[in-house]
Order: sequence, then C-alpha cells, then structure tokens
Amino acid sequence: MASPLKSLVCDDGRYQEAFELFLQRSSEHQCMQDFIHTQLPDILASVGDGKPHLNVIGVGSGAGLIDLEMLSELHQKHPAATVENEVVEPSSQQLHNFKVLVGQKPELGFIKFNWNQMTAAQFEEHWKLKKMMKKADFIHMVQMLYYVKDPGATISFFQHLLSERGKLLIILVSGQSGWGKLWRTYRHQLCNTEISQCVTTADIKSYLESKGVSYQSYELPSQLDITECFTEGDQTGELLLDFLTEVLDFSKTASAELKAGVLDLLRHPDCSVESQGRVIFNNNLGVLVIDHQS
Ligand SMILES: C[S@@+](CC[C@H](N)C(=O)[O-])C[C@H]1O[C@@H](n2cnc3c(N)ncnc32)[C@H](O)[C@@H]1O
Repeated sequence: MASPLKSLVCDDGRYQEAFELFLQRSSEHQCMQDFIHTQLPDILASVGDGKPHLNVIGVGSGAGLIDLEMLSELHQKHPAATVENEVVEPSSQQLHNFKVLVGQKPELGFIKFNWNQMTAAQFEEHWKLKKMMKKADFIHMVQMLYYVKDPGATISFFQHLLSERGKLLIILVSGQSGWGKLWRTYRHQLCNTEISQCVTTADIKSYLESKGVSYQSYELPSQLDITECFTEGDQTGELLLDFLTEVLDFSKTASAELKAGVLDLLRHPDCSVESQGRVIFNNNLGVLVIDHQS
C-alpha cells in the first residue's frame, strides 16, 4: 500500500535544500571522489577502445560536481578523445547550477554538453521516439535510482545503450548501510513507490543476478552526522529527518509512533555509532559496474 505521507521529492526546493545539508554533514562526496581518483581510472581505461570520440550519459547529475570529476578522469585516460555528454536532470535549479559550473571551467572545451531537463523515463521515451542509434561509452547514475518507478527496467534500458566496450556505473547506498536497515524495517510506511524506491545496491545485485547480468562491485565507507535529528524542534534535524525518511515534513506529519520508531532505529547500533557526543549514521555506499551485454 502506498504511504499516505507526502514524498520529499514532491517539493524540489526542500529536496534540494535537504540534499545540500546532507552533503555538508556527510562524507558522501569525499568517498565518491576517493573512488573516482583511485578505482575509476582503471574502469575507464578500456572504454571506447581508442575511439577519437566518446559518448557519455549522466543520469540524475544534480549540480554536476561528481560528473565533472569523472569526466576529468575519462579525459586523463583518453586525452585525445572529444566527448559528447548528455546530462539528464529534471530539476531546473540543479541543471542551472551545473551549467554555471561548466561556464567556470574553460578547460572543459573538449566536451560538448547536451542539457536534458527531464527524468530518466522521459529521456528513454524521447530516445525511443527519435529512434536514436547512438551508443554510449560511459553511462553513470549516481544516487538517482531511488527516484525511478522501476529501477530494473531503467538499468536494462541504459545498459542496452552501451557501446561494445561501454560501462554503466551505478552508485547507491550499500545494503549494509544504516539506510538499508532503516528501509528493511520501515519501507512500507516511508516509501511511496509511485515516486521513490528504497533501493540499495543489495537489491540491485539480486536483480542483476536474477537476470544473469555480471557486475563488478565496490564498497565505499561513508558517514553522516545526524545528531540534530534527536533535538525536538531543531530545524536542521528536521530537514535531515526529511532526507533520511524521504518524507516531506516528517516530524510534523508522521504519527507519534512512527516518529518514535524511526528515531529509535536511527540511533540503534545497527544504523549508527555514538562518538564524542555525536550520532554518526552509517552512510556506506556501493558501486556497481556493468558492461555492455551482447
Ligand atoms: C541524490 S541527488 C544526486 C545528485 C548527484 N548525482 C550527486 O550524487 O551529487 C538525486 C538527483 O536525481 C535527480 N532526479 C530525481 N528524479 C529523477 C528521475 N526520475 N530521473 C533522473 N534524475 C532524477 C534529482 O533532481 C537529483 O538531482
């Protein structure tokens, strides 16, 4: 049954504000950057097979910080190649932020950006309608598969867009993270499956295995300071709680019982550790890399 609570995704302004706060309070982007600079170069080495031009698709790019780090590694591995990058991002604010960032970096002249202000599903529809035959050498979906109706079908569509030596990279929270525990316990109360899914890399691995799709997998340790969530009426805590539960105004709209249960679980050792008076939530991420399937 769909949750009667309103999804945070319905209010892009508050969603983006909550995401920004989450980035400030967590090591989310730091651990991704570590992965991008240490492990991703080897993954990108074989894409394109020496082609002079590479096609990239970024799905749910946000403000593009992580995308640009990945593009920089791609360029270092293939310095002679030009790049065409489809950016798929429904938030006009985030797309604007991404364009501003690109405008500040003249060194990105080797990349042609195509801006698609749309969801992954709209991009798929548009691609099919235009009967596009172009193949992609590198596709990434960083922390976005929560927001599609059918993550498996989305992966399958984008995997079919890969060129022969192409790679699809997915980053989501790990099944072993505090998020995994929270969602295994409260998925039915918190998740409105019409618009957001409580998926972890464990769910995606099961899906891929059921389809016989092989993948490479990496775990990225990460933390999120959620201390303020436990101070009644604290605005920062309430915004973080919205992000953690994916529910708009969770503190004001959830039942007292659900709120108490979620708060108890968030500070339970399965989800968090307490250190120097702070409550540190396990925000570990998982990375999955999928090849072109013939
Ligand atoms: C958690 S943020 C991640 C942003 C960026 N990839 C990062 O890691 O910093 C999720 C992004 O997915 C976008 N998004 C939401 N629904 C989407 C959909 N159906 N298709 C594509 N992107 C979506 C949001 O606007 C947001 O920018």
